[in-house]
Order: sequence, then C-alpha cells, then structure tokens
Amino acid sequence: MASKNISRAVIRRLPRYYRYLSELMENNIVRISSKELSERMHVTASQIRQDFNNFGGFGQQGYGYNVEFLYTEIGKVLGLERTHNVIIIGAGNVGRAIANYPDFKKRGFVFTAIFDSNPSLEGIKIGECVVQSMDNLERFVSENDVEIAALTIPKCAAREVAAGLVSLGVKAMWNFAPTDLNLPGDVLVENVHLAESLMRLSYRIKELEE
Ligand code: NAI
Repeated sequence: MASKNISRAVIRRLPRYYRYLSELMENNIVRISSKELSERMHVTASQIRQDFNNFGGFGQQGYGYNVEFLYTEIGKVLGLERTHNVIIIGAGNVGRAIANYPDFKKRGFVFTAIFDSNPSLEGIKIGECVVQSMDNLERFVSENDVEIAALTIPKCAAREVAAGLVSLGVKAMWNFAPTDLNLPGDVLVENVHLAESLMRLSYRIKELEE
C-alpha cells in the first residue's frame, strides 16, 4: 500500500471514513456506492472517489465499494491493523476520562499504565490501569513497548515531562496540555486542544449572528 504519497488532507479525512465504514459493517451492509456514502457523510461523491483513488480505488463500476475490504484497507493505511500501547501521564479529569473510555481499545489503542506525580493517587484503579508513581516511569518504559504517551498534565509541566519521555525513547505524544511541546522533529505530536476547538465554534456562532 503506497500510503507515503497520500496527502495530509486525505489522511485527515480517513478516520471519518473508517468510522462510517465501521458503522456500516455493524449494520451488516456489505457494499455501498460512492453516492450513498456521500449522502450519509455529507461529502461529495467525487471527493469520496478521489480520496479512495489515492490507494487504488477499490470500487467497481455498478457494484460500488465492498465495505469490509475498504474498512480493512483504510485501517492498514492508518496503521490500525496492529495494536498501539499507550501510557497516560496525569490521572486528573482528562486522564481519567481517557483511561475510562472503552472504545479506544476497540480501535487497537491499549492503555497499559497511568502515572501521576501526586502520591495520594497511587494505587487507584482507573479503567484497566492502576495509577503509578512517576518514579516507576523509566523502568516501565524500558520494560514495555510504549509507543504513545498521552499528556494530561498541566501545561507548566508538559514540556519537561515530554522531553523526559523522549529521552526514554517514547516517540509519539498525544498532547492535551494547551502548550506547544517544542520537541525534536522526529517526535510525533498530535495536539488535542479542546479550548481551541471551542473558540472555532464561537467564531462560527458569531458568523451566524452577523
Ligand atoms: P487535573 O488537575 O485534574 O489533573 C492533572 C494531573 O496531572 C493531576 O493529577 C496532577 O497530580 C498531575 N501532574 C501534575 N504535574 C505532573 C507531573 N509533572 N508529572 C506527572 N503528573 C503530574 O487537570 P485536568 O483537568 O485533567 O487537565 C489536564 C490537562 O488537560 C491540562 O493541561 C488542561 O489544561 C488540559 N485540558 C483540560 C480540560 C478539562 O476539561 N479538564 C479541557 C481541555 C484541556
């Protein structure tokens, strides 16, 4: 699968296709035309065809797309055909919400540990993990295959903690702290800035009102 040449814009759209295809499979729908998919997703059929053509089309004239095949192929492009181990740093509101959310595991994201600097949280069970001291972090990372660290700590701590994780060999950060981490270029950072998302919504409300 030549996923290297697929544009970022297409890659950003793939998780949404993946979600719709997963729902179609749950409803035992075996095939779908680009027109039907476009009506469900409110995306033009030509956009869907163009997007899917990026990895070989998969559609057949008069048949449409085989839902399971497309789901599997998009999953491969997104690297979802295997599991990813995730640790959480920060067992507060956001860390707990993530650790307690069961659907990440269905997508192959396995939360293996949660760490916090507050000793009073140690030993508390959240989801399938027990809160551990930050003192255990180095050993845990060296003994386990940790691919992703979710940073759900205050922004004042985020950069230092992220840099420490990088020095332990963690190469991907899922950053909830409202700050830029400024990590080396080979470290992957996916920011989840909820306040920024709300500000965009605020702008759209303002636009409607004007
Ligand atoms: P919180 O205060 O409930 O939890 C933060 C946790 O991080 C605490 O348990 C604390 O002991 C731990 N911690 C602090 N420094 C640490 C360090 N150096 N190493 C390890 N653990 C450390 O905070 P909350 O609400 O969960 O927010 C977490 C992050 O997500 C913050 O950066 C916040 O700005 C951001 N955020 C929170 C939202 C919310 O709705 N709560 C929404 C959007 C973003």
